[in-house]
Amino acid sequence: MITVDEMDKLQGSIGIVGTGTMGGQLALNLTERGCKVVVFDKQHKQLHELQGAGIKSVSCLAELVAILPIPRLVLLMVPAGDAVDVVLDELMVLLDKGDVVVDGGNSYFLDTKRRGGVADKKSIFYYGAGISGGKEGARNGPAVMLGGPQEGLPLVMPILSGMAAKKGERRGFVYCGDDGVGHFVKMVHNVVEYAIMQLQAELYLIMRDLQALAGDEIAKSFTALNRGSLRSSLMNMNVAILNYRDAKDGLLLDHILDRAKQSGTGRWAANTALELGVPAPTLLSAVDARSISMQGDLRKSLQNLYSNKDKQAPTKANLDNRDYETALYAGIICAFAEGFSLLKAGKDHYNWASNLSNTAICDVWNCGSILEGEILDIIRGVWERSNGDGSILADDEIAKSLSRGESSWRKVVSAAIAAAIPVPALTASLGYFDGIRKARCGANLLQAQRDCFGAHTYQRIDRDGQFHTEWEEK
Ligand code: 6PG
Repeated sequence: MITVDEMDKLQGSIGIVGTGTMGGQLALNLTERGCKVVVFDKQHKQLHELQGAGIKSVSCLAELVAILPIPRLVLLMVPAGDAVDVVLDELMVLLDKGDVVVDGGNSYFLDTKRRGGVADKKSIFYYGAGISGGKEGARNGPAVMLGGPQEGLPLVMPILSGMAAKKGERRGFVYCGDDGVGHFVKMVHNVVEYAIMQLQAELYLIMRDLQALAGDEIAKSFTALNRGSLRSSLMNMNVAILNYRDAKDGLLLDHILDRAKQSGTGRWAANTALELGVPAPTLLSAVDARSISMQGDLRKSLQNLYSNKDKQAPTKANLDNRDYETALYAGIICAFAEGFSLLKAGKDHYNWASNLSNTAICDVWNCGSILEGEILDIIRGVWERSNGDGSILADDEIAKSLSRGESSWRKVVSAAIAAAIPVPALTASLGYFDGIRKARCGANLLQAQRDCFGAHTYQRIDRDGQFHTEWEEK
């Protein structure tokens, strides 16, 4: 591993395919740190700015491969999906044994695993790098979650860790292990990001539609919330958004269409949680909330159909920022608890090296990623106190903080539900909290029902064995 100082004076060359928002900014970042960067983009995105920075661009992949010193390092910054396969198919013919390809897009981790297998057959080292931090992060230092073969690390690590964010001695870079694990960690990062964004959007909705706060009052409230454990990169963005006015439109946020798109990582994470049997209601509710938001026409027509409920403006609840702070903190803790459970289940299921510690994940997420924030220091403390496994909710400090704020959390959720304000993530996180700590849940009736209609048998709490009962009189 090169030293922190060496990382700022990078040696070596890199070819970047795709100079869109992230690719172009990474090219500028790497050039500034001394890397020799050559770029190729069919649509010549940001090419003028890149050439202005002295970055060489080529007109085809063959030219890119020909110009790079051997062993070659190529970074793909193209949209996840078929586009990666198209570029990779061409590169596999052009590259030689010992060359390195890194997919820096938000690819699905099993696609990365598959592609790595293809590259391996040609002795080309293939990596999946989850790169977080958006445009600003790409330009000045993202968080990089790298997965792939150990053998190619001497070529790829100095450059990818060198371009990453730096906070004191900490670097926003972690080598996660083999095949698709880097993209898996990024996928989990993204679904936690979805959940936190959704929780924050729900507080905004409560303030706007239940408390009838004006835009500037909501901005003030979010500014006050953006401190202590809730201080974060996403909250900084919320404060900027809630204060953004222009002469023509006033508060721009009021003019934005409320239909949230998604590029795939949140959905893949939700499917993986279901596949691996990981309870993650807060995470899944955030993905669902985006799908509901896309049903704009149905939402409008059903609001009219059920408008009597909405005609009487809901009565204001006696909620204050302390309540909001508690509910948001608790919801975020549940989101991270579910996210780390998913990480553990993935590591176990796919047999990834267990050297990927939860503290290392907290460190990389807290240095340049969209999730950067004080709460990750709190969660890092949980993993330092535990053996790195188990649930965040099992930590004594977390238990104290959640128990202290429980009534406020319930008050916020109850007030929103009573006023028909949709708060799926807040509700799901409270449901997760109640469900995961209930020693005797209602699944005994589920077992009896399953045995009743399908003779699936059931276990008992007072003796071993599998049992079946003829439940209904003949
Ligand atoms: C990040 C973001 C980023 C995000 C994409 C797509 O860490 O920088 O997570 O990679 O995933 O901008 O976002 P959506 O999935 O919301 O479309």
